[in-house]
Amino acid sequence: MKIFITGISGFIGFHTAIAMSKLGIEVHGCDNFNAYYDPALKRARQAILRDQGVDVIECDIQDVHTLGPLFDRIRFTHFFHLAAQAGVRESMRNPQLYVDSNLNGFIRVLELIAGLRQDIRFVFASSSSVYGVNQTIPFKESDVTDQPASLYAATKKANELIAHSYHHIYKIPMTGLRFFTVYGPWGRPDMAYYKFTQSIDQGKPIPVYGDGTFTRDFTYIDDIVSGILATLKLTSSYDVFNLGNNKPQSVNQLVSLIEERLGKKAEIIYEPQPPGDVITTFADTQKSEQTLHYYPKVSFEKGLDLFIDWYLSYHHKSEPADLLTLYNSCSSI
Ligand SMILES: NC(=O)c1ccc[n+]([C@@H]2O[C@H](COP(=O)([O-])OP(=O)(O)OC[C@H]3O[C@@H](n4cnc5c(N)ncnc54)[C@H](O)[C@@H]3O)[C@@H](O)[C@H]2O)c1
Repeated sequence: MKIFITGISGFIGFHTAIAMSKLGIEVHGCDNFNAYYDPALKRARQAILRDQGVDVIECDIQDVHTLGPLFDRIRFTHFFHLAAQAGVRESMRNPQLYVDSNLNGFIRVLELIAGLRQDIRFVFASSSSVYGVNQTIPFKESDVTDQPASLYAATKKANELIAHSYHHIYKIPMTGLRFFTVYGPWGRPDMAYYKFTQSIDQGKPIPVYGDGTFTRDFTYIDDIVSGILATLKLTSSYDVFNLGNNKPQSVNQLVSLIEERLGKKAEIIYEPQPPGDVITTFADTQKSEQTLHYYPKVSFEKGLDLFIDWYLSYHHKSEPADLLTLYNSCSSI
């Protein structure tokens, strides 16, 4: 088994690569280290990956001249396509980034894989956002998903459709994973749980949209990684799966837990719901249970504790932290 991961220095790519490497699997990957959020965090993840013997190449997924020869040389068996421009609100400010990475980049990668004419499983990151303005909860894979609420969601839905067309023509086995609000140590600083922790810690106000009763199906990173690892055993031809927690939490609950763990009170500024945001996400996980044996184990309280422990170590060390020690102390894998 040989693995290639795009977006390997991103939050989910990093944890996936480490988990696979710990299983003795040869892991390669690429990342363009863009500045959507602090690239220093991506470099810190890269340093840990290199220390674990994971091969990280700095390259954009649209750069076929670099990736083509690389793919020919590595001859991987499984491809995990996690690189994308993430974030719902950024897609209103900077739509071209989503066209470049999530559409153009996605097709370029698929073209290269189709050209290899090898037996490769292609696993790609989709998102709970494909459920869009769907009102039926919990969200099931069989629900109609043709009403996205943002350009980001539309590109993720497009990925599922484009992947199917390449599967149909080139017979590439494909798996789409609809991730639900993934959180945890080494997480993404653009996401609410991280931004709220940072602002409350620094005594800055936090914006809460609506009355704070919006809910998200927060899913701990180790549970997500267990679902990703399960795809290594799949034999199905084309499928999509929810990887969620099946237990949505409100923004108000999130804020109270962070306040409690940090021992500091949040200064909340209530703002109207931004266009593009949905009221709830809630995964039905029956299909993932049956096929991937996916049973998320980490409670929101426990997962948030693990995140905050890591956050305090990473951001509050006066000496530069030994990254590997920090990784090991904050990982429950
Ligand atoms: N984290 C979540 O809650 C969540 C939820 C649903 C879906 N997803 C999807 O899962 C995947 C991984 O998300 P993440 O949370 O790890 O995000 P992330 O931003 O931390 O990771 C993505 C990585 O891809 C890299 N990248 C972006 N565009 C690239 C390009 N053109 N070429 C090469 N590298 C590029 C980035 O530098 C980044 O390191 C993404 O596809 C995202 O849309 C994430």
